[in-house]
Amino acid sequence: MLSSKEPNLRLEVITSKYYDDVINHLRRTFFADEPLNKAVNLTRPGQGHRLLELHSLTTLKDNISIMAISHDGEIAGVALNGILHGNSDIEKSLDKLNDINDENFKKIFKLLYEQNYRINLFKQFDVDKIFEIRILSVDSKFRGQGLAKILLKKSEELALERGFQVMKTDATGAFSQRVVSSLGFITKGEIKYTDYLDSNGDQIFVVEPPHEKLKIMCKVIN
Ligand code: ACO
Repeated sequence: MLSSKEPNLRLEVITSKYYDDVINHLRRTFFADEPLNKAVNLTRPGQGHRLLELHSLTTLKDNISIMAISHDGEIAGVALNGILHGNSDIEKSLDKLNDINDENFKKIFKLLYEQNYRINLFKQFDVDKIFEIRILSVDSKFRGQGLAKILLKKSEELALERGFQVMKTDATGAFSQRVVSSLGFITKGEIKYTDYLDSNGDQIFVVEPPHEKLKIMCKVIN
C-alpha cells in the first residue's frame, strides 16, 4: 500500500513487460503536458512522438525506473531514471541533435544538454556516474496526492542500492521543483525562460505560469 489515499497502488521497478503500457501512459501525460513540451506544442494528449519514445525506451533499458501501478494494471505514475556516464555522454547527445529534423524536440534538448554540459556535475561532485531522473509523470487523475514524491523516494532507495552517490534532475516546472526540493535536492544551475532568447532577442520558450525556469537540481545520497 502506498498511502491511505491510494491503497490500490504498488511500486515496482519497470521491466520490459510494461514498456508498452509506460509509453501509453506517457502519451496521455508527459509528452503533451510537461511544461516545455507544452510550450512548443510537441504533441497532443494521447498522441505518440517517435523521438520521445526512443528517449524513454533508452532510459527504461537502464533498468532503474519506477512505476506506481494499480492492482488492475493501470499505471498511475512513473519516474524514468537513467545513468549518465560522464560529461562526454552529454557532449555526444548534443552532437546527435545535429542529425535531428524535429526543431521543437531539438530546441528542448539543446537547452537541457547545453546547461548540463556547462555546469559539469561530474567535475563538481568528482563522480563518474550520476543517477538521472529523466521523466517524472503522474496521470492527471492521481496528481496532487504526493505520488511524485513517493516515486522519487523509491528511486532514491534504488540509487543507493545500486551504488550511486549523486542524483540529478532537470526540473522544468514549478511542481517538479517543489517535489525535489522537498526531498533535499539543491539547485546547481538555473535559467529563467524569459532570459533564454534566440539571436533575434525573442523568447524561445513561452511557458505557462506558474512555471518560470529550468532548474538543474541534485542530491548527494552517499
Ligand atoms: N497546482 C498547484 N500545486 C500543485 C499542483 C497544481 N496543479 N500539482 C502539484 N502541486 C504541488 C503540490 O501541492 C506539491 O507541493 P507541496 O509538497 O508543497 O504540497 C508539489 O506540487 C508536488 O505534488 P505531488 O502531489 O507530489 O506531485 P504529483 O504527484 O501531482 O506530480 C508532476 C507532479 C509529476 C509534476 C505532475 O504534475 C505531472 O505529471 N506533470 C506533467 C509532467 C511534468 O511536468 N513532469 C515534470 C517535468 S521535470 C522531469 O520530468 C524531470
